[in-house]
Amino acid sequence: MARKVDFKTSVAVMLSGLDVPAKRLQDLVGREKPPGQHHMRYTPADLRSARYRFAGIDPTNIPKSKGKPKTGAIPPIIMTRMTKGGVGKTSISVNAATALALMGYRVLVIDADPQATASNLLGVESTFDTTIKHIGHFLVKKSADPDTDLSEAIVHVYEGGFLDVIPSDITLAEADASLVTAMASHERALLFLKRNGAFLSENYDVIVVDTAPGTTPIGLAFSYAAKESGKVLTVVEPEGSCLRALDSLSSNLAEIEAMTGAKIGLEVVINKYHPQLKHVRESMGFLYSKYGTMLNDSIVPTFSGFSRQLNPQTREAVPLVESDPSSAGSIAIIDVAKSLILSFGITQPGLPKVDTER
Ligand SMILES: Nc1ncnc2c1ncn2[C@@H]1O[C@H](COP(=O)(O)OP(=O)(O)OP(=O)(O)O)[C@@H](O)[C@H]1O
Ligand SMILES: [Mg+2]
Repeated sequence: MARKVDFKTSVAVMLSGLDVPAKRLQDLVGREKPPGQHHMRYTPADLRSARYRFAGIDPTNIPKSKGKPKTGAIPPIIMTRMTKGGVGKTSISVNAATALALMGYRVLVIDADPQATASNLLGVESTFDTTIKHIGHFLVKKSADPDTDLSEAIVHVYEGGFLDVIPSDITLAEADASLVTAMASHERALLFLKRNGAFLSENYDVIVVDTAPGTTPIGLAFSYAAKESGKVLTVVEPEGSCLRALDSLSSNLAEIEAMTGAKIGLEVVINKYHPQLKHVRESMGFLYSKYGTMLNDSIVPTFSGFSRQLNPQTREAVPLVESDPSSAGSIAIIDVAKSLILSFGITQPGLPKVDTER
């Protein structure tokens, strides 16, 4: 089901993050418009190559030694957590993952929510007779050996390995229940990532994990695993109950640190921003004063297009950033994705990481 994606020049210039005009971008991409095609269309692979050429590296000859991840090293993990439901965790994480994929980073999305909203937004639907291998299948294993069945669980959304997903379905709730009684259940996600480190670091530049609302064992396990990246991503709506939930999430991370020594910070994306509302303005004041240093640079406005979008030809769901990359919602998400590249240290083999400390 892997599909081919391409986009027009203005979108390519915005996604590239290279701050170069269209003509220079086309030179960096290193290919001409195919004969018979009216306008140049760019692909994720084009932007990946452009990033190499911009750094003076021939993309067909990437130095293997420089920047090659250590065996077992885990790519940066962006896991979203928020106790309150419906704030936009899935909309932000799936669309940011898609934006990173369109930019030419190789992204693995792990749907860790039994409601499977992330899978559905990516066009993976569950029917009565479909069987999928969700992340719970791997989290219940205690083994330290790499999973020989991991590639069976992966669904390719985009051609070229730019966007893959380990989808979920409602039976993931059973794995969540099993983890309640498991010993050291908080370590299971880290164990999964470590035992598959070689495969993951060879195939992906970043892993995005979408979790269920509330505090679930799988959510806790991925929070602990996020110690490798140093932080978890949270999404808040600027309103009272969300701010209280943010306080309790912050206390939970402090508890994890007290229990395990794992120091895990927070990066906060403000979503559904509506400046006209009085309580929103008051909540923004609270967010800036208490969480100012943890706020992502971009604020995502209220925008109706985040609901499920369908490709008119195939009738399959596609994320907003793919279906309408120039919309106000997508521009905000692309900005979020660009700041995640910096704050989570996302890069591609052979290129240096951009300084992560902001
Ligand atoms: N910026 C936005 N503007 C308007 N609607 C939005 C925005 N972000 C998300 N939504 C809508 O809010 C609803 C909840 O979004 P989403 O499923 O992403 O939240 P969630 O936090 O993942 O929810 P859950 O807690 O159930 O996992 C969806 O209908 C989505 O389309
Ligand atoms: Mg969700």
